[in-house]
Order: sequence, then C-alpha cells, then structure tokens
Amino acid sequence: MYNEPLYFNTAFLLHSIDAWEQDRKERFNLTSLTESFHESVPALDFIDWQITAVERGYAETMLPLIPNSSNQYIAHQGPLMLLAAEYTGGLALTSLFHLVPIIGFWPSIDNNAGYMWGAKASIKWLTPSCHNLTCKARIEKDKWEGLAKRFANSNKVVVTIPVKMFNGEQLVAVADFTYWAQDINGLKRNAFDVEKIDLLYAHKTKTTAKLIVGLRAIEQEKTVEKRRFDDPYAFMLAGKHGITLARRFSIATPQLQNMVAARTVHLDEAVIQFSQEKSTFNVVNIGAGYDCRFWRLSIENAFIYDLDLPVMLNERKRIFDYSKKNTIRNIEIDLEIQSIDTVLREINSFDPSLPTFFIWEGGSMYFRDENIDTIFTSIIKIMPQGSCIWFDYVSAALIEDTTGIKEVENFTRNMRKMGEPFINGYNDISVLAEKYHLTIQQDIHSGTVLDIEEDIYKHYGFCILRGE
Ligand SMILES: C[S@@+](CC[C@H](N)C(=O)[O-])C[C@H]1O[C@@H](n2cnc3c(N)ncnc32)[C@H](O)[C@@H]1O
Repeated sequence: MYNEPLYFNTAFLLHSIDAWEQDRKERFNLTSLTESFHESVPALDFIDWQITAVERGYAETMLPLIPNSSNQYIAHQGPLMLLAAEYTGGLALTSLFHLVPIIGFWPSIDNNAGYMWGAKASIKWLTPSCHNLTCKARIEKDKWEGLAKRFANSNKVVVTIPVKMFNGEQLVAVADFTYWAQDINGLKRNAFDVEKIDLLYAHKTKTTAKLIVGLRAIEQEKTVEKRRFDDPYAFMLAGKHGITLARRFSIATPQLQNMVAARTVHLDEAVIQFSQEKSTFNVVNIGAGYDCRFWRLSIENAFIYDLDLPVMLNERKRIFDYSKKNTIRNIEIDLEIQSIDTVLREINSFDPSLPTFFIWEGGSMYFRDENIDTIFTSIIKIMPQGSCIWFDYVSAALIEDTTGIKEVENFTRNMRKMGEPFINGYNDISVLAEKYHLTIQQDIHSGTVLDIEEDIYKHYGFCILRGE
C-alpha cells in the first residue's frame, strides 16, 4: 500500500469537484457522522442535534424542537443553541481541511489528524426559537486558501466564523465563534520541551496513561476479597479525568478492565519472581506513564529507571515523594528519536552489567515498525545474561479490524477517535524473538491469566523474552 503523503496543491483540492466528492464520501456521510458526534458529545444525542448539509466552507445543522430542547426560559434554550451553532461552525472549518480526521469525531491513524478547539464565542438571541432551529455557518471563499494552507503546513489556524440560526426563514439568533486548529505534526513540535510544549499536546500525551490508570483505579472499587491486585495509588493518579475515561471506554468494551487487571497481575508476578532470583538488578520501565508498581510493591533489590517524555515525568515528580525512594530515577526520552541504550549509558548510576528487567507496558501497539526496531535493537545492546523483556501486545487481527468481535471494533474505533490509534500487532511473537535473537520464556493470553475463556481475550497477550 502507498503510505507516503500526497502533495496536491491546496487550492486545487479546495476547488476540485472530484476532491470534494472523495472528501464527502470519506468524511461526510451525514448519518454516521451525526452518530459519531452523538457518541462523543452525549448532550448532542440528548437534544437530537442533526448534521443536515456540508459543502466546502459551509455547514448546516438542525436542533429540533423536542421536549429535551424546548424553551421554558431562554436560560435553557440559549446554551443549547450555542452548542448546536458551535459544532456547525467547526464543521464548516473542517470541510476546508481535505480528508483530515478531527480528533474526537473522526477515527485517525496518523499524525495528519487535527485538533480543533473553540477559543471564544459570542451569541445574540434576537427572538425565542419556537420551531426547529437551522444553524448555518459559511466561510467566505476568499479566506479558504489561507486557512487551508496554514493547516496543511502544520501551523496554527485561528479564525472567527459567523453562524446564523433560523426558524424556517426567520433569523432568530446570530453568533461568532473563534476556533483554532492544528494538525498533530504541528502540535508535536515542542513535545520534548516542558516550557514550550503545546498545552493540548501535553493533555493528549497524558490521556492514554490516564485511561490505563483509571482502569486500575476501578479495581479498587471491588471488595478486598474480589480484587485481583491492590493499587492504592491508582485512584489519586487517575483523578476524575482517568476514571471518567475508563468508565466511558468500558461501556463500549466491558472486557477492558479485566484485560488491564490481567496485565497488572501478570507483570507484578513476573517482576516479583525475577527479584527473588537476583541479588540486585535494574528495571528499565519504558513509557512509565502513571505506573506506580515500584511504589506499591516492596522490591528492595532493584534500581528503577522510569523512561518517558519530560511532560509525563514532570507529572510523576509532582505526584511522588522521591525522597522516600532513592532507587527510582526518571529518565527523559523520546523513543521516536533517541535510543534507550545511549540515553541510559549517559546516566552515571546506571550499571549495564547488572541483569535487567525491561518493561514495555502498554506501548508496543502505538509504534511503527521502524521505532519498534530501534527500541529492540537498543535493548539488546544492554541486556546482559539473566535479563529479560516483558511486554504486552495485541493481535494483528485487532489492528486490521478483522476480529469480527464488536467490543474489539468499538475499542479500536474509540482509540482512533481519541487520536491514539493502535497501529502495531503480532500474530506470532516467535518472528520478533528470532529477529532479535531472543528466546520466548512465556507468551500468554490475557484470558488465560484470569481463567476466562471468551475469544476477545485472545487478542491481547503478554510475553517475556530472554537473552541468549
Ligand atoms: C499507554 S501509556 C502506558 C503507561 C504505563 N506503562 C502503564 O501501563 O500504565 C504509554 C506511555 O508511553 C509514553 N510515550 C508515548 N510516546 C512516547 C515517546 N515517543 N517517548 C517516550 N515515551 C512515550 C506516554 O507518555 C505514556 O506514558
């Protein structure tokens, strides 16, 4: 398959009927797009808001007059009109960015996806809305090219779009919305600099880690006898954001919490057993996120190196009292451009001759082949005898959308909509093991860990690879 970007002239894409027909077909099926908006913004579902037309630079939506949206006092109806109008303007702006999935609403699979955010809004209600409300947003043609070009060059687009609201022909309200939009490539530019990182990109970076710790926190709601593991830190680490994400994802994929429980149990046991076999050892935790395994397990004979992007490590420094555990170190890394062995060798305290337990938990599914190769190649350079790598992985079928399991499809779609797509999976771990001259010590499905038979668990597993 051709994977390179296509370099069409922005003006051509904006004015070509063929380009628009392709875009309309791929992004603007109005029925499924309305459903996607309802799923992402439940309030839009509650008021039965509908997308009724989208053209280049134009969008029209409808807020029906139904009991859930009807007017008793303008205080209720006014904000609903604002809500409906805000998404209408956003759709008009989206229509200028040819084929770009906007995070939150369209599934995305790469960094060309865009973020769009409301920055400012003003609305004037002219008269009560006593019928279905039609919202119309139009961007003047002479602005199209400038906006589309800025976006295509990964620059921040800031624009104010007028939205008019009608009952039939009667104008009932007018609004102005200021939006900003940028693609992930642009947002990512300062990802390694905590002073300059884009706030939204920082938020996005933390989101999957929050989801996972949220799923661990939910385990604590079970009675002590029913808990499969104890994580007294998880609730505080997840906060309301993580718990809400975990609950939302669990509606569409109820097995998710079990899968994270299985991974926690399996890795806890593996690392405890490793610690019992060694006098001292290193742990290199790749993409540590909100993991607090070495704060909650009493493993005293390990030197822990938590690797992650600076923005995530800052979170860890904010949360934990490092004066109580001087064996835990935070190591800044961007796995897409730096290699683990080089970064660790620069740390004075790191002893590469010690047996090392590498952990790559919740990571292998997010990286491309070339990054995975860099990661494994660098690990095996600092893997003395007795070392191992633990990592979790999903099936290739999950990545290719061929499992035929509804809950799996829901999960992959939700991750893509969140802008955190799973892009890497394995059918057979032995291919990977052979490539890096490693031996499979264990390769197990999540269902086997929990003694659950259901097929879905076969698409998520854990493996331990050992050096020769
Ligand atoms: C899904 S989270 C898993 C966190 C943790 N291992 C756990 O299981 O709770 C993935 C982690 O990988 C980190 N990560 C993603 N891309 C990275 C990169 N390019 N370099 C370093 N860390 C990265 C994220 O910041 C995040 O903390």
